Parts: sequence; C-alpha cells; structure tokens
Amino acid sequence: MPEMKNIVKHNFSVGRKDRNIQNGHKSFLLWFTGLSGSGKSTIANAVERALQKRNVHTYTLDGDNVRQGLNKNLSFSPEDRTENIRRIAEVANLMVDAGLVVLAAFVSPYKADRNRISEIIGAENYVEIFVNTPLEECEKRDVKGLYAKARAGEILNFTGINAPYEAPENPDVEIDTTELTVEEAVTIILSKIQSKLAYTDE
Ligand code: ADX
Repeated sequence: MPEMKNIVKHNFSVGRKDRNIQNGHKSFLLWFTGLSGSGKSTIANAVERALQKRNVHTYTLDGDNVRQGLNKNLSFSPEDRTENIRRIAEVANLMVDAGLVVLAAFVSPYKADRNRISEIIGAENYVEIFVNTPLEECEKRDVKGLYAKARAGEILNFTGINAPYEAPENPDVEIDTTELTVEEAVTIILSKIQSKLAYTDE
C-alpha cells in the first residue's frame, strides 16, 4: 500500500448537493452485471437515451471501452478483474459527486467485487441491475464471436465457459432478455429509479 499519511483531504465549497440542485435531479450509479453478450450495454444505452430525453445528466462506462483506455493494462485474471471493478467504482464515485447518473456495464462476475462498489459509492447510491440472460442464449447470439473462441480453447478465463459468474442474490432489478424487449427493460428500470431521481431538500 503506498504511503497515505501525508495526504490530507481538502473540502471544496461547491459540493454534490449544489450540483444536484443545479441539475434538478439526484446523482447515483446504475450498475449492470451479467455475462458477456447478455445485453448489458444495449440496455444501458437505451436507459441513457430515455434519461437524456428527461433532461437527466448521464454518462456510460462500459467494459469494452474502458479496457481500451484507463484499464488497458488489466487482464481477465481474477486479480485484474477486481482491480478493473475497483477503478471503475472510484471513477463512478467521482462522476456521481459531479452530479451525473452513471450507467456502468461490466461483467463484474465476483460478488465480493460488487459489494466493494456499493461500499465505495454508498449503498444508497448503488442500483444493481442483473441482466440475467442464460448462458446458452448468450452463446447462441455470440455477437463478438468470443464464445466460439473460448470453446475452442483460444481464450482462457472466459466468463461462463472457463471462469465463474457469481449471480447476484438480491439485485435491485433483474432482467431476462429472452422474456423482455429492450423497451420493456427500460420501463422497468426507469420506474425503479423514478423516486431516486427526484431532488427533495432533506
Ligand atoms: S470484468 O469481468 O472485468 O467485469 P469487463 O466487463 O471489463 O469484464 O469486460 C468484459 C468484456 O471483455 C466482454 O464483454 C468481452 O467482450 C471481453 N472479454 C474478452 N476476454 C474476456 C474474458 N476472458 N472473460 C470475459 N469477457 C472477456
């Protein structure tokens, strides 16, 4: 652990509450977890579009993009996935402080890692959305051709094939994309967060 004892936190006079008032809504994190190809990014994208229409300030973080920049030095080993999720949670925490509704779409297969997100950002700011599309369906879709490669032994540590996915036991929202359309998923998610969005002066 690097030396932290000479670092003193500075408190700025403009805070999250000021930004929430300015924006006219609260800020929090929508975390989409599920297998590769389950539809996390597609649903997150549609939710973001719907929020934009309602003048909500948003930002989306997603695995395939963040792993090309901030996290390009990380692999899919369990340790690196943990570090991937930790960094994203810290970035999301800054963005929530900046007043944004953050949508994050990451496989995030480990329960302990997801618990840590909630600790970093605060349980009241964390909405867990389990995109529960069965493995067979993700594999059938195989949009990126990665399941075929994993089955052929060309990708090690591939979630669902030769690496675990620990399903959430108590997600705030659960979506099975074999039963719901994207629009239906958006409606369910929006109704879940409606009361969290409204700014009320406590
Ligand atoms: S996580 O496990 O660390 O949360 P993350 O969401 O960032 O994963 O990245 C997952 C994306 O990387 C998948 O959608 C897939 O496109 C790609 N990928 C490449 N290799 C793997 C792998 N071994 N396991 C899972 N996803 C992989």
